[in-house]
Amino acid sequence: MTTLLIVHHTPSPNCQALFEAVVAGATDPEIEGVRVVRRAALAATASDVLAADGFVLGTPANLGYMSGALKHFFDQVYYPCLDATQGRPFGYYVHGGNDVTGAVRGIEAITTGLGWRRAAEAVTVTGEPGKADVEACWELGATVAAGLMN
Ligand SMILES: Cc1cc2nc3c(=O)[nH]c(=O)nc-3n(C[C@H](O)[C@H](O)[C@H](O)COP(=O)(O)O)c2cc1C
Repeated sequence: MTTLLIVHHTPSPNCQALFEAVVAGATDPEIEGVRVVRRAALAATASDVLAADGFVLGTPANLGYMSGALKHFFDQVYYPCLDATQGRPFGYYVHGGNDVTGAVRGIEAITTGLGWRRAAEAVTVTGEPGKADVEACWELGATVAAGLMN
């Protein structure tokens, strides 16, 4: 059994819709042998990260960056997990009002520093998520989870 850890900050219904789609994709019945663990970004710990084989991160864009909650997560886990999690696969989604550039740049920089390997296209959504946005998040969850099947 492998473990996918979903670390998310979900402060609104639009973010919730994307989060739920990621979970639905990751827990699709065709994906076997992958345990899916969900953690709010303010509650996720280095132990959660060390115990996981892959990650999906989700955040709103706030003030030109990722949410403080997801940044706090990275601040907590970066050095404790730096050596042990090199090369592990991850994906992420960002929801914003109009411009998610800074959030994307920040996530890419930190995950590059961690040595994580992006295993799916990033999903970025602004405004109310449409059907294609929800489907892209479903694919994100399913792709990262399917990559963890033995
Ligand atoms: C303090 C604050 C700062 C924000 N800054 C940005 C930003 O820099 N870029 C952006 O695209 N959206 C920004 N937003 C919008 C949020 O990303 C958006 O509210 C969040 O994704 C939830 O989406 P919703 O309000 O449509 O449900 C900001 C929202 C708040 C409350």
